[in-house]
Amino acid sequence: MILIDGKKTAEQIKIEIAQEVKKMNDAGIKVPHLAAILVGDDPASQTYVNSKSKSCHEVGFMSSTYRLPENTSERELLEMVEFINNDPEVDGLIVQLPLPAHIDNQKVINTIVPHKDVDGFHPVNVGRMTIGLPAYIPATPFGVLELLRRNSISTTGKHCVVLGRSNIVGKPMSLLMSRNSEPGNATVTLCHSKTHNLKEITKQADILIVAIGQPGFVGADMVKEGAVVIDVGIHRVATDKNPSGFRLVGDVQFDEVAKKASYITPVPGGVGPMTIASLLLNTLKSAKKEIYN
Ligand code: GUN
Repeated sequence: MILIDGKKTAEQIKIEIAQEVKKMNDAGIKVPHLAAILVGDDPASQTYVNSKSKSCHEVGFMSSTYRLPENTSERELLEMVEFINNDPEVDGLIVQLPLPAHIDNQKVINTIVPHKDVDGFHPVNVGRMTIGLPAYIPATPFGVLELLRRNSISTTGKHCVVLGRSNIVGKPMSLLMSRNSEPGNATVTLCHSKTHNLKEITKQADILIVAIGQPGFVGADMVKEGAVVIDVGIHRVATDKNPSGFRLVGDVQFDEVAKKASYITPVPGGVGPMTIASLLLNTLKSAKKEIYN
């Protein structure tokens, strides 16, 4: 079994980005700038936004974080998005999800101008990705592709089973794995909460990508000997063995599944760190006008 080291891979990507930023600086070109909007004070969202901003500084990007109170109206948020759309200093804009219940997520996403939508959530980017045009690819699926590519895990002709159909992970992941490119060219099955005979399907997977959002959902009995297992889940579970009072686990029962897998991502230190590295790559692409010109 080979452990796929997402932390190390993400560090390597950040070194590569920092080198690019240095070249931009030396050439007198404006460095990439990522803006994030955070509404409310959800602790997990605060952690994500803080680590995004920290990572920006590590690679030499500019970063701005707009923190708005929980009771911000939809109109105020849309105006903030429009303001950043029109700010020529900013290359990428993300609005941290989930938003408070009184705000329509999709309406906010639809307001972000597609060429700054480095999350790849705008319908224009989703559509462009789907038909193979240049597009921002959502950070988590992009991170999974980079882990496969950088570990030389071939996907062509393989049976890839994706568990979960969210717009952020499962749905784009299934489309990307079926694209005519490497990584890609896989035969893809997309499973979800209504799938019958789930175990029979997951046991056929050469590559199993799990984004179902339930701690320890996948056990060894669901996995074929020699499969590549990618765990996108991240959950806090209570423990008294740890001073923090919790530990992080994924959607996969790591210890028992690792005995059968050929490659596996750990949690933490697998897909998680790759997500931010991917977001930085998308922001760099935006600054260099590689997707839209
Ligand atoms: N919430 C959880 N994941 C994400 C993400 O990738 N982008 C944004 N904007 N919000 C999220």
